[in-house]
Amino acid sequence: MEKFVIHGGKSLRGEVNISGAKNAAVAIIAAAILTDETCRIENIPNISDVSIMARILSQIGADVKMVNKDTLEINAGKVSPMVTVPDEMTKQLRASYYLIGALLGRFKCARVSMPGGCYFGVRPIDQHIKGFELLGADVNIENAMVNASAKRLTGCSVYMDVVTVGATVNVMLAAVMARGLTIIENAAKEPHIVDLANFLNSMGADVRGAGTDVIKIRGVEKLHGCTYSIIPDQIEAGTYMVAAAATHGDVYIRNVIPKHLESISAKLVECGVNVEDGDDYIHIDATKSKFVRCNVKTMPHPGFPTDMQPQMAVLLTLASGTSIISESVWENRFRYVEQLTRMGATIQVDGKVAVIEGVKGLTGAPIKADDLRAGAAMVIAGLVASGVTEIDDIYHIERGYEMMVEKLTALGADIACVDVPAPVKATAITAG
Ligand code: EPZ
Repeated sequence: MEKFVIHGGKSLRGEVNISGAKNAAVAIIAAAILTDETCRIENIPNISDVSIMARILSQIGADVKMVNKDTLEINAGKVSPMVTVPDEMTKQLRASYYLIGALLGRFKCARVSMPGGCYFGVRPIDQHIKGFELLGADVNIENAMVNASAKRLTGCSVYMDVVTVGATVNVMLAAVMARGLTIIENAAKEPHIVDLANFLNSMGADVRGAGTDVIKIRGVEKLHGCTYSIIPDQIEAGTYMVAAAATHGDVYIRNVIPKHLESISAKLVECGVNVEDGDDYIHIDATKSKFVRCNVKTMPHPGFPTDMQPQMAVLLTLASGTSIISESVWENRFRYVEQLTRMGATIQVDGKVAVIEGVKGLTGAPIKADDLRAGAAMVIAGLVASGVTEIDDIYHIERGYEMMVEKLTALGADIACVDVPAPVKATAITAG
C-alpha cells in the first residue's frame, strides 16, 4: 500500500510538461482492434488506465509492444471474432466498454463484461446500446455480460438523448466499417473525440464533423494500420494550472493546446489569476493573486469540464466570499467534500450543488482519494494546506496522472510517495 505525504505551503515555480491524453489514449487503443495491421501510437501517457487497456488487448490475442517509454505498437490480427472479455478485465476501468464498439465494428459481434470506473452514481449505457441497435445489432445484457451481434452493420442516424463521450466513441467505433452513412447528432465534442476521429481517419476511415455536435461517418470496407500521436491531456494540464494558481505560484505548463483549456483559463481569470496563452504553453502567475469567489457550472465541452470540478473546488475554498459549483454531468461527484472538510474547508452540498464559503487557509490532515480527479484535488489541497497531509488510496490518482510526484517535486513541492504497511487486522483480545 502506498500513500502521498505532502508538506504544504510551498508555491509552485518553474515549468511542467503535459503528457498524452488518457481519455484519447484508451479510446484509440480500443480502435486499434479495427484492423489486422499494426498501429503505432505515440505520446502515450504512462498511467495505469493505459497499461490496463493494453493488457486487456494482449490478453484477448493482440500483439502489444511498448517500443519506447511513450510509444505503443498494437497488431490485433490474431484477436478471435469469438473472443469474450471477462469481468476481471473490464471491471478495472470505464473505457473497457470501448471494446464492444471495436469488436462489433470489426467482427459484427462482441461479448464484453460491463465496465468499472469512478463511482459518480448511476452510469447507464442505454445510449451505447441504442446506437448499436440502430446500426443493426442485437444487444442484450446477461450475467453482466454485454452481448452484441449483427448479420451486417448498416449506417443510420443516432440522436443522443444526452451528450455522452462514451456512447459517441462507441458508435464511431462500430460505424466506421458499417455499410453506408451514419450520422451521430448531439454528439460529444471533447478534444478526445476529435483525436479518435483523426486516428480513425489515419486508418482509412471517413469520419467528418468531430468536434461539432454532428458527426458523419461513411463506412469503408477495411481499415489499415497507421502511426499516430496522441494529443496532450486537457485535464492533466488543467490540474497543474489550478495547482499553480492555488499555491500562488508562477508556472509554465508546456506541451498543451491552449484552445482545449479556454474554459479553465477563463474561470481562473475570473477568480483573480493571471493566465497567459502561448502557442503550446499556458503561463500561470498567481504570485500576487487575491482569489475572488466565482460560480462554476460543469458542462460538456466546450463548457467547464466536469473532470476539473474537484480541483476547482479546492481553489474556491481559498477565495473570499461564497462560490457555487453546479455539477450538471454526474449525479454524485461531491464525495471528496468530506475530505476537504477535514482540512478546514466550509462546503455545503445539496444534491448536484456545492456552496463554498472561502476560508483563510486549509490545514494538513490524513485524507484519501475517492476517485481519480478527487484524488488530484486532494493533492492540490495538500500543497496549499499548512502542515502535513497524507493521502491514502493513491492508486486512483495513478490511473490518470503520469509521474505526478516527479512533476510536482520539480516545481518545488514537498511531496513523496511512501510505502505503508498493510493495516494490522484487529484480533480478538483473549481474556488473560
Ligand atoms: C467520460 O466518461 C470520461 N471517461 C469521464 O472522465 C468524464 O467525466 C465523462 O466522459 C464526461 O466528460 C473516459 O473518457 C474514459 P459520458 P463517460 O458517457 O463516457 C449519461 C476521468 O476523470 N449517460 O459522457 O462514462 C451519464 O450518466 C473520467 O477521466 C447516459 O445517460 O461519460 C452522464 O450523466 C471520469 N447514458 C452523462 O451522460 C449513456 O448511455 C455523461 O456521461 C451514457 C451516458
